[in-house]
Amino acid sequence: MKIIIGEGQQLASLAADHYARLLTENPQRVFGLATGSSPLRVYDELAARVDAGELSFSQARGFTLDEYLGLPAGHPETYRRVIDAEFVSRVDFAPGAVRGPDGTAADPDAEARAYDAAIAEAGGIDLQILGIGTNGHIAFNEPGAAFDSRTRREELAPQTRADNARFFDGDVDAVPTHCLTQGIGTILEAREIILLASGAGKADAIAQLVEGEVTTLWPATALRSHPNVTLFLDAAAASGLSAEVRDAARAATLAATAR
Ligand code: F6R
Repeated sequence: MKIIIGEGQQLASLAADHYARLLTENPQRVFGLATGSSPLRVYDELAARVDAGELSFSQARGFTLDEYLGLPAGHPETYRRVIDAEFVSRVDFAPGAVRGPDGTAADPDAEARAYDAAIAEAGGIDLQILGIGTNGHIAFNEPGAAFDSRTRREELAPQTRADNARFFDGDVDAVPTHCLTQGIGTILEAREIILLASGAGKADAIAQLVEGEVTTLWPATALRSHPNVTLFLDAAAASGLSAEVRDAARAATLAATAR
C-alpha cells in the first residue's frame, strides 16, 4: 500500500494523475465513483483537465459505489443525483455511460445482483476511488461486513447516519436507514484503488487501515490484501500513523511530486 501525505490541491492533482495515466493508455476505461466529500477536489481537478482539453471520459464508463434506499427518485440527496451534479455532468461521459445501483428498484436484491453482473460485463473496474467512514466503512460496508461480500442491501450504522445528517439539514431521522452497496469483495476486484481521507475525524480509521489488525470490525482493513492501493491523506487524517509510516509516506510523496 502506497501512502501520500499532502495538502488538498496537491493530493487532488496527484490523484487525478492516476486517471490521466489510465486514460492515456486506453480511453475505454471503467471507473468506480464514490460520492461524499472526500473525492470532491479530485472531481474538480478532473473537470478542470477535461475543460482544458487534457483529458476525456468520452469513451469511459462509470459505476457508483452505493445508493440510499427509500428516497424518491430525483431526491437531491440520492447518490445518483449527487454524483451527476458533482462529477458526471461536469465531464464528457457519453449519455448512459455511468450507472449506479437503483435505490427505487422494486426488488433491491435482484438489482444488487444485476449491478455486479453489469460491472463484470463491462470488464471490471480499472480504478476505484474511495472515501472512508469514521468507523472504517468503505462504500456502505459497515463494521462486520464480510470481506467477500457482493453488492447487496445493507443497513446503515447509526454512526454513518449521524455523519451523513449534515447532508439532510442536520436531521438524522431524514437519513435513510438502508442502502444498496457494492460489497467489499466487489471493491477488491477493482484493478487499482485510490482512497482519499482528510481531517482528524478520519485519523483512527486510517491508523487502523494501515497499521491495525485486519478485521471485519474495520472494513477498510480488507484493502491490505489488495496489490494496488494508494492512500491520499492530509496531515490530520495521517496523524494517527506511526512515525515510521509517516516518514516512508513523506519519501513516497516527494517521489510522486517530483515526477
Ligand atoms: C460514498 C461512500 C462512503 C463515503 C464515506 C466518507 O459513496 O461510499 O463510504 O466515502 O462515508 O464520506 P465523506 O467523503 O463524505 O467523508
